[in-house]
Amino acid sequence: MARVISFASGKGGTGKTMVVANLGVCLAKRGKRVIVLDADLTMANLGLLFGLEERFTLHDVLAGKAEVEEALHEVMPKLEVVQGGLSLKDIGQIRLERLKGVVVELSRRADYVLLDCPSGFEEDFTAALAASSQLVLVINPDPLSVAEAMKVKRMAGKMRVALLGMVVNRVVGKDADLPLREIEALLELPLLGAIPEDEEVARALASGKPLVVQAPRSPASEALEKIAEVLLKRK
Ligand SMILES: Nc1ncnc2c1ncn2[C@@H]1O[C@H](COP(=O)(O)OP(=O)(O)O)[C@@H](O)[C@H]1O
Ligand SMILES: [Mg+2]
Repeated sequence: MARVISFASGKGGTGKTMVVANLGVCLAKRGKRVIVLDADLTMANLGLLFGLEERFTLHDVLAGKAEVEEALHEVMPKLEVVQGGLSLKDIGQIRLERLKGVVVELSRRADYVLLDCPSGFEEDFTAALAASSQLVLVINPDPLSVAEAMKVKRMAGKMRVALLGMVVNRVVGKDADLPLREIEALLELPLLGAIPEDEEVARALASGKPLVVQAPRSPASEALEKIAEVLLKRK
């Protein structure tokens, strides 16, 4: 069975999708069978980072219109993506309670299942959390992001999901940033790695290729490769 890891933040736009997509590539390059799943049902955009066209999506699976296998898209050896639907047209037909079963099915065919969680604390978020066994927080070095992450941490405790630690993304390293040491002290969580603010991230998005493929030597890519190593070691 796979390790099922959710990536969550509370606050939107911290970089969850960017981190999940690229860690998926990094782990697959290291020989692991990986599935990345877009569990952000209303802002689905994971597929875009791989330049995928919309075919069968998680929406279709949860609405009973497609089988899980049909929604799996191989984007490189050992890496499959289940994208979310980009339109909200059949969001009413989605049965969230099916998500857990879908994740169990996926976890039989992979070593790692990475869930790109929705922001906020609605039912789609709790459904994603309930379907995973481990959680990584993706935060930015600002007080609002840390405050929201604190809420996610509390929720994970209640739902008995193991908190592996946090990734601090979009680090500029200026006075405006909350220092990493302060963030660690506030959240009392291990720092799995810090990713710098990097203009290559936007360029990769425009190219339809994941950052670590498009710009492997960029500072953010190097940070992501290190985080993948940390994840492999931390059970
Ligand atoms: N390290 C980074 N450097 C520069 N831009 C980034 C970085 N990480 C994420 N971004 C940008 O921030 C925005 C939000 O990222 P995204 O992964 O969509 O966040 P989330 O999934 O948490 O909502 C995107 O436009 C993305 O390209
Ligand atoms: Mg996202």
